[in-house]
Parts: sequence; structure tokens; C-alpha cells
Amino acid sequence: MIKVDLSSISSFVPQTQLDAMASRVAAAHETLASGSGEGNDFLGWRELPVNYDKEEFARIKAAAHKIQSDSKALVVIGIGGSYLGARAVIDLLKSPNYNLKQKDTPDIFFAGNTLSTDAVLEVLELVGDRDYSINIISKSGTTTEPAVAFRIFKAHLEHKYGKEEARKRIYCTTDAARGALKSLADAEGYESFVVPDNVGGRYSVLTAVGLLPIAVAGIDIDEMMAGAADAMHAYADDRSMENPVWKYVAARNCLYENGKKVEILGSYEPCFRFMGEWWKQLYGESEGKDGKGLFPASVEFTADLHSMGQYIQDGERVLFETIIRYANPHGQVVIGEDADNVDGLNFLAGKDLHFVCEQAIRGTRLAHVDGGVPNILLELDSINARTTGELIYFFELACGISGYVLGVNPFNQPGVEAYKKNMFALLDKPGYSDLREQLLSRL
Ligand code: PA5
Repeated sequence: MIKVDLSSISSFVPQTQLDAMASRVAAAHETLASGSGEGNDFLGWRELPVNYDKEEFARIKAAAHKIQSDSKALVVIGIGGSYLGARAVIDLLKSPNYNLKQKDTPDIFFAGNTLSTDAVLEVLELVGDRDYSINIISKSGTTTEPAVAFRIFKAHLEHKYGKEEARKRIYCTTDAARGALKSLADAEGYESFVVPDNVGGRYSVLTAVGLLPIAVAGIDIDEMMAGAADAMHAYADDRSMENPVWKYVAARNCLYENGKKVEILGSYEPCFRFMGEWWKQLYGESEGKDGKGLFPASVEFTADLHSMGQYIQDGERVLFETIIRYANPHGQVVIGEDADNVDGLNFLAGKDLHFVCEQAIRGTRLAHVDGGVPNILLELDSINARTTGELIYFFELACGISGYVLGVNPFNQPGVEAYKKNMFALLDKPGYSDLREQLLSRL
């Protein structure tokens, strides 16, 4: 189970404040569990680790096997919650260098998360003339970035294989009944997977949204779901400050109320980087509203100690850190003796690199706390599918509870609409002419 170590926030948060916060966390947890809070039509993720469509789960695995057997690449098209979870898990469990590795599973390219021309051209170039398939993921089926990318890649696939064969290589993950993508999938006969009505985008990595690309990468999705189920059983019903989720929620909300406005999620594992991106969306979209919410940032240590380290140590004192520590690497690297010792590193000879990293974690933590940056430490055993499922559920549950502690609806994202409306107006989409006039007068 995840261990939450709060010893390095004690000089910033008095025990009395934590105790008082515990009763607010209890109330927020009850609001979430009873489904009596705002956004309660988006609570399907709570039971997802055990209560999911088993027939669809089997189809996901079958589709993954088919893609593995007939494709050298998979283009996954989606944005936000329809993209970040899959990318984060594949990076974490298979490496950010997954596509560069020798393997018997397809390369995976992500598209539809940008409007950059160069990025689209690059994916087309990287796919080249290899056999490939497409997984288009959009709950609403109307999001511009993935819709545009799908148009481009669908045309490319149809040109390459003809409409009939292309149809067998397009997998759609979308709403069960509504939206342009659902209509297209039905009309064309694409194999389709469902984003359940009651699961919002950023809480959807444990549905087909995340599971199909993750399975294609050769990751054991049963084990990941089992890890999430472990977390659900351990954390969803424990209403006490022994619950690691409560500790995390209480600590971050106390720190926020004490003037720490930025939470930095950091890890010492480069493969964790996109988990940071997934976490930023989860917390940023869930809490950042009504003029409130911690600003979620992420860093990759030790690399960022040589870039962001200065600011964290010494800049505006509005930060706190949540650090992920994996106790056990998958192997050992021992530092050798050097006869000349020109680099002066013989004092490390015979030491394990992991031991060196552990001292960096400990030393950095003390330095940052001395510099006024409180530190929440989340400790896990090792990077694997089970602990990843557990961590995903841990953060989702904590996010739902934390949003209610903050007094916001953690399951909507009204702020995402503003840029879309302006973009549609500027693109002259029918129905936006008044707004277009207003915007053009300001440009
Ligand atoms: O969390 C969310 O709901 C959003 O980030 C969505 O996932 C994102 O906007 C993409 O939406 P859709 O899946 O409808 O294309």
C-alpha cells in the first residue's frame, strides 16, 4: 500500500490544524461516497476497478491482440483525459523510449493532442509505409483537435488500404449513444468501445480510453485493474487519518490554507514524467475553478534540480512538494573503482546507484524544507502494473475528496469552453457570428 509520510510538513502545519482538517475530509469523503455532492452524475470511476463491463474488457484484449498481430504502429488520437492516462502509463511501465526499443508490440504514436502542423506531419512520417491502426478516443466525439487529426489519419489509412480494410483498422472509443464520432462509428461499422456516461475524461484511464492503448503496448491490464481494486478496497471505506488518501488530502488542503498555492509533483524516475502530466490535468481541471485551487506543477528530479531547483529552494515561498519515491528498482548498478580517481568519485566505489539516488532524495527533501518548501512523501514498492493501478486510484479518490474539501465541483470543467468558443468564432463556425464580430474588433 502507498505510504504517505507527513513528517516534513510538521513545521508548516500544526497538528491541531491537521486534526481540524480531518473532520472536513471526513465530511467530504461522505459527500463523495453518498453521491450527494455536485457533479454526482460523474462518479462511475469509484467502482470501476471491480464494476466494469467484463465483456468489453475481453474485447479490449482481443482488439489489442489483433492490433499487435496486424500493425507495426498504432496511432492513438485523443486529447486531455482521452490521451494523458494512456501515455502516462505506457511511459511509466514501458519507458518513454518505448518506440525506440526492440519489441514484439507496435510502436505507439499520439496525435490529436495538438493543432501543430509539424507534429501531425511528424507522426505521418514516423508511421511511414508501415502497417498501422488507429484508436480514436473522444468521449464527446466533437473535440476539435482529435476530430481534425482523425480526418487526416482516416483519409491516410483509407488511401493506404482502401475503405474496407481501413474500416477493420479503426477502433473508436466514445460515448455509448451520442456524438458525431458515435454516429460515424455506427455508420462505418468500426469496432467501438464505450466511455461510460458517469465517468469524466480525466477519470477515465481505467476504461477503454486508457486500457486499449495500454494493452496494445503489452502491459498486463488485469494486473493494473487488480492494483486499482486493491486501492479501492483499502482506501474507499477507511474513514480515518490512517487512510493514506486522507493524509494526503488533509495535508495539501492545510498547506493551501497556509499560503502554499502551488503543489509540485516530483519523482526521481524519468519514466514518471507523463504521470505528472496526467496528475496535473486531474487536479488542475478538478480543483482550479471559482477563483480557487492549488496550481499543479511537476518536476523530474534530479534533472530539474539543475533547472527548477534554484526556484524551489529560494524563489517565492508559495510552493510545496509531493514526492513519489519507489523503494525498489528492477536491477542494480554498482559504481566501480577507478585507479586514477581523477573525478574524485572513489568514495562512491562499490556503492549502488540506487543508494546514491536515495541520498539525493533525502538531502533534497531536507534542503527544500529548510528553504521553506514543505514535503509530502508518497512511497511505493516498485514500478509495476499493480502499483500503477493503485496509484491511479489513490490520486483519483484523493482528488474527488479534495475538491469537496475545497468547496468546488471536482467533476466539471466549465473553464475549458472559453477558448473553444473563441476559436470556433475565429474559424467562422456557423452560429458564432456575433462573437466573431466582438473578437475581431479586439484583435
Ligand atoms: O477531463 C475532461 O473531461 C477533458 O479533459 C476531456 O478529456 C478532453 O477535453 C477531451 O474530451 P473528449 O474526450 O470529449 O474529446
